Amino acid sequence: MSKRKAPQESPNEGITDFLTELANYERNVNRAIHKYNAYRKAASVISRYPSKIRSGAEAKKLDGVGAKIAEKIDEFLSTGKLRKLEKIRQDDTSASINFLTRVTGIGPAAARKFVEEGIKTLEDLRRNEHKLTHHQRIGLKYFEDFEKRIPREEMLQMQEIVLKEVEKLDPNYIATVCGSFRRGAESSGDMDVLITHPSFTSDSSKQSRLLHQVVEQLEKVHFVTDVLSQGDTKFMGVCQLPDKEDGTAYPHRRIDIRLVPKDQYYCGVLYFTGSDIFNKNMRAHALEMGFTINEYTIRPLGVTGVAGEALPVESEEDIFDYIQWKYREPKDRSE
Ligand code: TTP
Ligand code: MG
Repeated sequence: MSKRKAPQESPNEGITDFLTELANYERNVNRAIHKYNAYRKAASVISRYPSKIRSGAEAKKLDGVGAKIAEKIDEFLSTGKLRKLEKIRQDDTSASINFLTRVTGIGPAAARKFVEEGIKTLEDLRRNEHKLTHHQRIGLKYFEDFEKRIPREEMLQMQEIVLKEVEKLDPNYIATVCGSFRRGAESSGDMDVLITHPSFTSDSSKQSRLLHQVVEQLEKVHFVTDVLSQGDTKFMGVCQLPDKEDGTAYPHRRIDIRLVPKDQYYCGVLYFTGSDIFNKNMRAHALEMGFTINEYTIRPLGVTGVAGEALPVESEEDIFDYIQWKYREPKDRSE
């Protein structure tokens, strides 16, 4: 996952920027996920609002903008800043916690612990490498690279390598690059790959070999350069395109590969294509229609609210059909 979003051309960038900053502060420093979601939702709806917002009252008409956020928008529009944000930025502890969570592997809890120990900067982390997990060390090693977004052109090249190597191993694999890339984004924060194989279903025994041999192959061709974590069904790591013709190197990039049973593949593809806001909305609609959807299955809810057996799914369209929603192409799934 990536914490930075693509730069957007919006007439309300000032507002969406301060809302995003507040969201990150609530998640990273206060660990207040509800507030984090509320700010993100407001930022998302405002970023798609086509004209310049003139007042909090105007913004409040949008779904997801409440009275408190409207008040902040008024303050921002009249003074050009936000006292709450000024205070947060001046608070050294908050700023340090917020900063450290930009290192992959350092979550809000670890960041707070480091800051309490006086570890606040990249330099501090480098001096205290022995206190870092393997994942955090790699995060530190590639900190600058991981902050960079991946242009779609590079995502296309990366996709080509992954799909080609998987096919070489066994043409029966099915692989899909999901995430913002699948939604057509001009740049992405990372690469999210889902793979499955007809021989692997939720009834069959575990087949971790199916994931391991893909990772080994990608290491063999020097595409995967580092491992952050490796389980039987989820690989988190680092990859890099071969050097450009003029000899310059591409940045290292974050890549996640998940192995999913065939019968759960399309629920997985749907979930990991996102966006997260679209997923939330789709799940809410599913509940209204009497279904529960997660990254593995769609199940009908009985009258008592208990979920039944997983329904058969052969495509993403099937899932939309069950909940009587018109199919939406990935590019139309931002919310
Ligand atoms: P991400 O890689 O975090 O998001 P992204 O690919 O949409 O954006 P980016 O370019 O910054 O990488 O997660 C992949 C998908 O997983 C996301 O689109 C939807 C799903 N997801 C959720 O539904 N909820 C979550 O909290 C997260 C982290 C992901
Ligand atoms: Mg992604």
